[in-house]
Amino acid sequence: MLDVETLAKKWENSDPFVILQNAANLGLNWTLAMSFSREDTVILHWLSQIWQPVDAFWLDTNLLFPETYAFQDKLRVQYPVNLRRIQPSFSLKEQAQHYGQELWKQDPHQCCHLRKVEPLFEALKGYGGWITGIRREQSPTRAHTPIIEWDNRHELYKLNPLARWSTEEVQNYAEENHVLVNPLHGKGYPSFGCYPCTRPVKPGESIRAGRWEGWDKFECGIHQ
Ligand code: ADX
Ligand code: SF4
Repeated sequence: MLDVETLAKKWENSDPFVILQNAANLGLNWTLAMSFSREDTVILHWLSQIWQPVDAFWLDTNLLFPETYAFQDKLRVQYPVNLRRIQPSFSLKEQAQHYGQELWKQDPHQCCHLRKVEPLFEALKGYGGWITGIRREQSPTRAHTPIIEWDNRHELYKLNPLARWSTEEVQNYAEENHVLVNPLHGKGYPSFGCYPCTRPVKPGESIRAGRWEGWDKFECGIHQ
């Protein structure tokens, strides 16, 4: 068992690439969670210099933006990645039959649970750790994100190499290093998930202001 608190302190001021290199030497099998945001492709860019093919997965809710579907195809060509597509156990039609039409309009908590939270268990089965693109600056709910932690719910390690980085740092790195970026970022979406629950943000609004507008909901639930 790793002493994650000590490791998190040790890595607190390390460069994210160095964090990933150190994590790769821990002898765990890691997988990268991809929503295809800029954060995730920057991490993929680094991981592809550490191990190939990179093991990654995406939770396909079947409700992602067309830009995201097209982007993941492009990414596969550009990077040596084994990108696993994980789908919910209910198709959209089955979900409508069991829970009602457009569940996201009635109960987005339940919808996220069925389409993201439950499938994540499947995605992480057999792995020693998962890597995510979450950052402290993204929201108050993420303000205390450690670089590495033990994920009790899934019983594996969770690595958040970009936790300390600002939006600007991620943007600059992607630009300077020609990292492929989801076109949604250029269309007013600093953060995005499924199209029915995401709108572009206006100047001055917070990064996640366009997610689940009108609901008392700030997380889909995969980061609790
Ligand atoms: S969310 O919980 O609100 O959807 P956000 O969009 O900020 O999360 O993404 C944060 C991180 O969670 C991403 O960098 C990625 O690691 C992971 N993630 C979010 N959505 C997905 C998804 N659909 N599939 C896989 N990983 C995801
Ligand atoms: Fe459903 Fe919206 Fe959650 Fe996507 S983000 S799973 S559409 S509630």
